[in-house]
Amino acid sequence: MALLELKNLHVALEDGTPIVKGVDLRIDANEVHAIMGPNGSGKSTLAHALMGHPAYQITGGQILLDGEDVTELAANERAQRGIFLAFQYPHAIPGVTVTSFLRSALNAVRKAKNGGVDNPIPIPEFRKELLAQMERLEVSREMAQRYLNDGFSGGEKKRIEILQMAMLKPRIAVLDETDSGLDIDALRIVAGGVQQLVGPEMGALVITHYQRILNYITPDFVHVFVDGRIVEEGGAELAHKLEAEGYAAFLPQPA
Ligand SMILES: Nc1ncnc2c1ncn2[C@@H]1O[C@H](COP(=O)(O)OP(=O)(O)OP(=O)(O)O)[C@@H](O)[C@H]1O
Ligand SMILES: [Mg+2]
Repeated sequence: MALLELKNLHVALEDGTPIVKGVDLRIDANEVHAIMGPNGSGKSTLAHALMGHPAYQITGGQILLDGEDVTELAANERAQRGIFLAFQYPHAIPGVTVTSFLRSALNAVRKAKNGGVDNPIPIPEFRKELLAQMERLEVSREMAQRYLNDGFSGGEKKRIEILQMAMLKPRIAVLDETDSGLDIDALRIVAGGVQQLVGPEMGALVITHYQRILNYITPDFVHVFVDGRIVEEGGAELAHKLEAEGYAAFLPQPA
């Protein structure tokens, strides 16, 4: 049984415009899949639909997580089951510190795993884990005390997304252009942090425009995404080919 399976998934915008037009994808634990494709092809729409964002309607097909059909579940229910999305454009939550946000998110998942009964992580244990992950991802203590993403630089937001992932330890991590905006050192740290978590407990779907992040998170499969569909699949070498040649070969030819 696959960890995450998409069967002929179709996604439309709220006004009914079809964006994702039949995607079949199977991701197992211990696997990294990369999706690369032109701007506006529907990659973030696919990611939002996976997470259960209410602005994106699943109009056909299925999403299975560990064999369970989660297509109709709300975003929080999917998160509790282990789907995680690192956003391309993370939102700020003024008034909520990074630390308290992470503790709430973690406790919500623990509660769901405990049959709906509160089972908060003891504060010393939380602090120890948080400090360890912050050190690994080189997030300063000062940042953890600030309001979530409020005034954070682009790269700081991406780091905090991955800190969130490291704390929640999802089954499947979807990273939507986590590499964009990261400086060279941050890319290595963040991508290394993701690679360390990929294993028997977690698979990853990495949406990116650039081959470079794939030097740190080695993809088992690369999918080319054009106009709402996967049009080509290959191994890590396909990312190099795309970087060299672009998407011309996959775009409709002018008449
Ligand atoms: N909430 C929305 N409201 C209106 N249009 C939307 C919305 N979300 C997506 N779209 C449209 O759907 C199409 C696909 O957008 P999407 O963000 O999924 O592309 P993408 O492949 O992630 O592009 P990029 O590489 O630039 O991030 C675009 O034409 C976009 O304008
Ligand atoms: Mg996008």
